[in-house]
Amino acid sequence: MDKFIIEGNTVLKGEVEISGAKNAAVAIIPATLLVNGITTLENVPNISDVKILCEIMKKLGAKISWISEHSLKIDTTHINSTNAPLDMTSKFRASYYLIGALLGRAKRAQVGLPGGCNLGARPIDQHIKGFEALGAEVDVSQGKITATTKKLVGAPIYFDVVSVGATINLILASVLAEGTTVLDNVAKEPHIVDVANFLNSVGADIRGAGTDTIKINGVTALNGNHTYSVVPDQIETGTFMCAAMASHGDILIKNCIPEHMDSLTAKIIEMGGEVDIKDDTIRVKYNNVINPVNIKTAPYPGFPTDLQPQLGVVLSLANGTSIINEGIWESRFQYTAELNKMGAKITAQGTTAIFEGVEKLVAAPIYASDLRAGAALLIAGIIADGETQLYNIHYIDRGYEHIEEKFKKLGAKISRISNYDDYAN
Ligand code: UD1
Repeated sequence: MDKFIIEGNTVLKGEVEISGAKNAAVAIIPATLLVNGITTLENVPNISDVKILCEIMKKLGAKISWISEHSLKIDTTHINSTNAPLDMTSKFRASYYLIGALLGRAKRAQVGLPGGCNLGARPIDQHIKGFEALGAEVDVSQGKITATTKKLVGAPIYFDVVSVGATINLILASVLAEGTTVLDNVAKEPHIVDVANFLNSVGADIRGAGTDTIKINGVTALNGNHTYSVVPDQIETGTFMCAAMASHGDILIKNCIPEHMDSLTAKIIEMGGEVDIKDDTIRVKYNNVINPVNIKTAPYPGFPTDLQPQLGVVLSLANGTSIINEGIWESRFQYTAELNKMGAKITAQGTTAIFEGVEKLVAAPIYASDLRAGAALLIAGIIADGETQLYNIHYIDRGYEHIEEKFKKLGAKISRISNYDDYAN
């Protein structure tokens, strides 16, 4: 296990380059299973979730190699199994995309019940309902999901909840189905549009991604020998925007898509920060005040749940009382107990947390409970008085590429201690 030791009291200043989006990459890599031949993906984040996914794809018969630090060459010509290894797939949530992709390609998929971050109940009933509507039989037992069919036939599908995963999974399953599928009440996150753009670039016929209704006209094949570049990461961008405010800093964030950040940009301006947008850059500058604000997380274009903990760190230092209402995941306030160890005054109950702003955070031993909580606590360590030990950083490595290097370039003092023995220290 690795941990970070962070010397605090840092005002973050400088430039940072955003990587490709984790949540797009973990969907587009399985989507290559639908392609005949070779796909080259660029701007792929070099993170542990992507590496695990590549290993799983190799077990299915794909040939995968990194041709540069951020480019993956994926050859799916010789896929020879529809049984994704259960131990590996149950390790992370996005393995559910293998169901839609394998079902679309081979009419059968077996995947371990997906794991992932510890955010509360994470049902996949909407995915299953969709696969069944396309004609698949789905069995969930003994920790695995098995979906089989003779053929997939397009159908109208109305989702009861707005789900990123179910939307993408049903796009994957219906791209090669016979006839037309209409998905209603879908999610509109930027990575959904990116998955649709990728599939259309190899010959799919998907219309309406980014709106409430997506129409997919099934095609007979998707063509290989194509290169596609993954969209910049919305959540990594937002993490650095929050870090600029929390540290009273000034960060120029490059290679991002500012329109994807509208909900956070509005809140930073409401808090009194300065936001300057030019082309694919956002500069966020602290302007001597952090006003309290209230937020409620919601599907895109609402405020992203995946930026709630990072904004929570900023609000723990605001000039007054703020309220966050978590609208997506029931257990997303675990990080507030860690911030309270650092002197924050947060009362979390159910899906609501009240943040009474304090002047300073102070160092403490703290534990990440999930990926975004980990990023939030890293920011907290960077700004706190004293030396913070941050544990469970494997969660952060799942979704942030070279995070300590990026923060160090902005002035943070972070050391990674690899394979430490906690009791020896
Ligand atoms: C994705 C993101 C995750 C983010 C979340 C919400 C990936 C790999 N992960 O997760 O980082 O926090 O979107 O933006 O992209 N639900 C159901 N039934 C279902 C599916 C979902 O009830 O079949 C509920 C969930 O319990 C949750 C809500 O719908 O309350 C949203 O979940 P969903 O959008 O599916 O999240 P994920 O795709 O798992």
